[in-house]
Amino acid sequence: MSSVVFIGGGNMASCLVGGMIAQGFKQDKITVSEPKQDNRNNLETKFGICVTDNNQTAIAGADVVVLAVKPQIMRRVSLDLASSFNPKTVVVSIAAGISIDALQGWLGHSIPIIRAMPNTPSLVLTGATGLYANHLTQQSQKDVVNDIFEAVGYSCWVESEKLIDSVIAVSGSGPAYFFRILEIMKSVGQELGLPEGLAGNLAKQTALGAAKMASQSDLSPSQLREQVTSPGGTTERALAAFQSENLESSFRRAMTSALERSREMARDFSD
Ligand SMILES: NC(=O)c1ccc[n+]([C@@H]2O[C@H](COP(=O)([O-])OP(=O)(O)OC[C@H]3O[C@@H](n4cnc5c(N)ncnc54)[C@H](OP(=O)(O)O)[C@@H]3O)[C@@H](O)[C@H]2O)c1
Repeated sequence: MSSVVFIGGGNMASCLVGGMIAQGFKQDKITVSEPKQDNRNNLETKFGICVTDNNQTAIAGADVVVLAVKPQIMRRVSLDLASSFNPKTVVVSIAAGISIDALQGWLGHSIPIIRAMPNTPSLVLTGATGLYANHLTQQSQKDVVNDIFEAVGYSCWVESEKLIDSVIAVSGSGPAYFFRILEIMKSVGQELGLPEGLAGNLAKQTALGAAKMASQSDLSPSQLREQVTSPGGTTERALAAFQSENLESSFRRAMTSALERSREMARDFSD
């Protein structure tokens, strides 16, 4: 079994570690390097994995190194690690806006690098992750990394690095779009006379049910929508209101803005 080292033991690293252990990864094959003593203690107690505060010694002999620090410090962390890397290690970056070229430049070797873009529902093992590997990555390395992200939900590979920006626009930022819709449905439900808790619960349960139907059914979302839209009924009237308010163009603008911000971040953080 491959050894996996996380640099940074915050939210994302702990949810990936939790998923990996639930899926049968061995605890003694997982190490997290994290500066905060409290975080290290929590990770050690909760998951029984190895923890350290020394990034350089942590990565010695690792098969996979997951860089799970904030984009703002990725440059410094990578430069510090450069001399300790074994060229056979595959590096996985989960940071938005850090290109493979930038990582390659900081790490100073031609090494296998994978960019991964997970999202927050990974915390409840229902994440969605887009992955892109550079040409130096072997299939066996892609398989191990795929297993890590499949342990916390769905994962897929994209064919070019620029598609990672599109993954960010769809699923990276996507949970917030649905949270916003839930906020709106709850508040309008209250305006229509429902108690706050009830309006919120009905909205959340409806989102859960719709997502389950969309993921389990053989029918497309369009077909499922048509199924609940009786001619002359309430849903038809609601959807006509969305149409006249141009919901689709709002979403297009929002998702394009997320994509543009991701490209801007690549310029800001990759120097
Ligand atoms: N959260 C998400 O939904 C999500 C989704 C996709 C991608 N990401 C990406 O995942 C990365 C991690 O996000 P996160 O939410 O897990 O952030 P986080 O909770 O802040 O975790 C980062 C951890 O790295 C630690 N750290 C700081 N300097 C370090 C160093 N030199 N060496 C090792 N560890 C160091 C931080 O400690 P201190 O707090 O003491 O600085 C913190 O515990 C980010 O690049 C983010 O863009 C996150």
